[in-house]
Amino acid sequence: TSAAALAAVPAGLVTGSRSGVARAAASPFTTPLTVPAPLRPWRLAGHDFYRLTTEEADVGLLPGTTTRIRSFNGRMSPVIRAERGRPVIIEQVNRLDVPFSMHLHGGHTPQTSDGHPMHQVEPGGSRLFRYPNEQRAATLWLHDHSHENHAENIYRGLAATYILTDDVEERLPLPKGRYDVPLQLRDAKFHDNGRLDWDLHGFDDRHTVLVNGRPRPYFEVAARKYRLRLVNTANERPFVLRLGDGEEFTHIGTDGGLLPEPVPTRVLQLWPGERQEIVVDFSRYGVGRRLVLDNTYLFDGETPGIMRFDVVREARDPSRVPDRLRPVPDLGTSAVEREFTMSFDPGTGRHLINGRPFDMHRVDIRPRLGVPETWKIVNGDGQYGIPHSMHPHLDAFKILDRNGKPPAAGEAGLKDTVTVPAGEYARIQVRFTEHTGLYMYHCHMLSHVQMGMMGQMEVSR
Ligand code: C2O
Ligand code: CU
Repeated sequence: TSAAALAAVPAGLVTGSRSGVARAAASPFTTPLTVPAPLRPWRLAGHDFYRLTTEEADVGLLPGTTTRIRSFNGRMSPVIRAERGRPVIIEQVNRLDVPFSMHLHGGHTPQTSDGHPMHQVEPGGSRLFRYPNEQRAATLWLHDHSHENHAENIYRGLAATYILTDDVEERLPLPKGRYDVPLQLRDAKFHDNGRLDWDLHGFDDRHTVLVNGRPRPYFEVAARKYRLRLVNTANERPFVLRLGDGEEFTHIGTDGGLLPEPVPTRVLQLWPGERQEIVVDFSRYGVGRRLVLDNTYLFDGETPGIMRFDVVREARDPSRVPDRLRPVPDLGTSAVEREFTMSFDPGTGRHLINGRPFDMHRVDIRPRLGVPETWKIVNGDGQYGIPHSMHPHLDAFKILDRNGKPPAAGEAGLKDTVTVPAGEYARIQVRFTEHTGLYMYHCHMLSHVQMGMMGQMEVSR
């Protein structure tokens, strides 16, 4: 499927741009990238404890202006580093004047910590969230999941990268330490004074791409290999990434951690909610070379460059990408088949799953613990050209096929979010193995979720 086909969204569904809004807020590649140091936990017996206050903060995102954001501890794009087998406990204190609910996207999380709307934290309240971290290493992310408010909360800044490591992965000779870099990608629309412009349906005129909260930054790198952990925290923007010289890079991981084998590629899709991990070897470019990372999925009036790598020094490089990374577990033979049709209802403007909008008081499906299921995700919006995705909470899945054809090598790993282009379908296999209770599954295009595209499952023994 070409990016152009995925991009086809008819104008009738799109809110027009408003006047008085800055189109491109900063000239590209004039701001340095920030690589946030991981937040420091209190390391208590057996677990890591954090206090995350959700609060408004004035931060400098665009040169010469300040922007009021909704933040964790006053920061944009913070990072948490966790180790497998060491639980993380977060005390979340809500100093916003809107409700907040914390969800660890991709986490195998007990129900009471999963961010279900019934557990949301009201203004002035607080709550403990516990993440067992018993799953394999992966790049996860924390974001708001409050009822009918999370699209705006995430847009205004409530997204953190959560890197989970484990021994298996640490033993591999992949780039580590300062050469292992989280890159949170998203878009935004700014007024000239730096204020964020918010419009739930305005996905196609958020022309400023932010990387770790910096507008189209440059990043000074050494002439060696880097591991880049790409996280798409945008409400609705896909990225289709290429290096400016069209050269190969190595795709090593996705939502649920490392792929079975590295996949050399020249182009990589990153849809909202997804993570992709790549290794780029800057040693093939000499010191002094500048290399742009392009997004080729463009809305009207946009240019491709989203960040630039400036090769500024030599460095020793003991790292390499091994031929085998990490096998994907066998999930067994599916005993249950389900079908989910994702569709837009032009009569009401709602987005539906199997003809119905989300209802917190309705259980839509009842999976059994340990029983593998096959889900067919049908995008019923061929005529409207709207892409949808499926993100079940709680466990990762495998993509079995797309339109009946086996997935590409880069989709052979564990996933937790799959995007299905308009009019197409995908089949996935999922097995819930650790926790029981009420969980959600939904499209990760955030205006769609807010307009109803979510269901509820009760997992039981
Ligand atoms: Cu990132 Cu319920 O989702
Ligand atoms: Cu959708």
